[in-house]
Amino acid sequence: MKKAILAVSFGTSHPDTLEKTIAAIEGALALAFPDRTLRRAFTSGMIRMKLKQRSGVNVDSVDSALDRLAREGFGDVVVQPTHIINGDEFDKLRALAAPFAGKFSRLALGAPLLTEADDYRAVAEALDEILPAPRQDAAVVLMGHGTGHHANAAYGLLQYVLYDRGRRDAVIGTVEGYPGLEEVLRRLEERKVRRVHLVPLMIVAGDHAKNDMAGEDPDSWRSRLEQLGYTVTWSLRGLGEYEAIQNIFVRHALAAEA
Ligand code: CO
Repeated sequence: MKKAILAVSFGTSHPDTLEKTIAAIEGALALAFPDRTLRRAFTSGMIRMKLKQRSGVNVDSVDSALDRLAREGFGDVVVQPTHIINGDEFDKLRALAAPFAGKFSRLALGAPLLTEADDYRAVAEALDEILPAPRQDAAVVLMGHGTGHHANAAYGLLQYVLYDRGRRDAVIGTVEGYPGLEEVLRRLEERKVRRVHLVPLMIVAGDHAKNDMAGEDPDSWRSRLEQLGYTVTWSLRGLGEYEAIQNIFVRHALAAEA
């Protein structure tokens, strides 16, 4: 039976981070599933349109990718999202995949990065390698996306796990949800630090990381912190660049296949 693995990402229109993050996760999946044909889909229609208009690159939607696999005679498909939380994008993916269940002998769906308690421990362990060593006079601020979806609670749980593992210098905030920058600023004040290192808690380092986090615009987190007198440094590496994170997605895909 022809088998495939479909890697589903929100997508990014920044080619540099696309290669280093989404393509790197896909590479890890391809390596772990040598018997499966790897395919890519992006859930963001806006990003697919941008890529097409700018560089003529066609990326499948979930629909078109699954439709094509069915028409090409694939019988066993594992769908692995590269999402961080079980939020809107994952709900959307599940709803889009459901009608295709009858078109394959098996259609399995892997879990996002932060799903079970073990995932939080694994991500915290990965962050131990990713983040600079803790310093008394510095804090690391992780910028997640955030959402109004109930899965937003994942950020609070990850914060707890980091704290419990001794990373008291790590503060999580989100661009579009709670906690936001105001809450982060209060934690920084409590810690009485003067140095802040910003890190994207996102798979790709696209618009949010480059502009909302580290941009020169007066509203960016970097600018707001600098205005308050903090010495700010930052990383523009999406989590998808790191092998330890890629491996968690691989484990989720293996669990879906089992
Ligand atoms: Co956004």
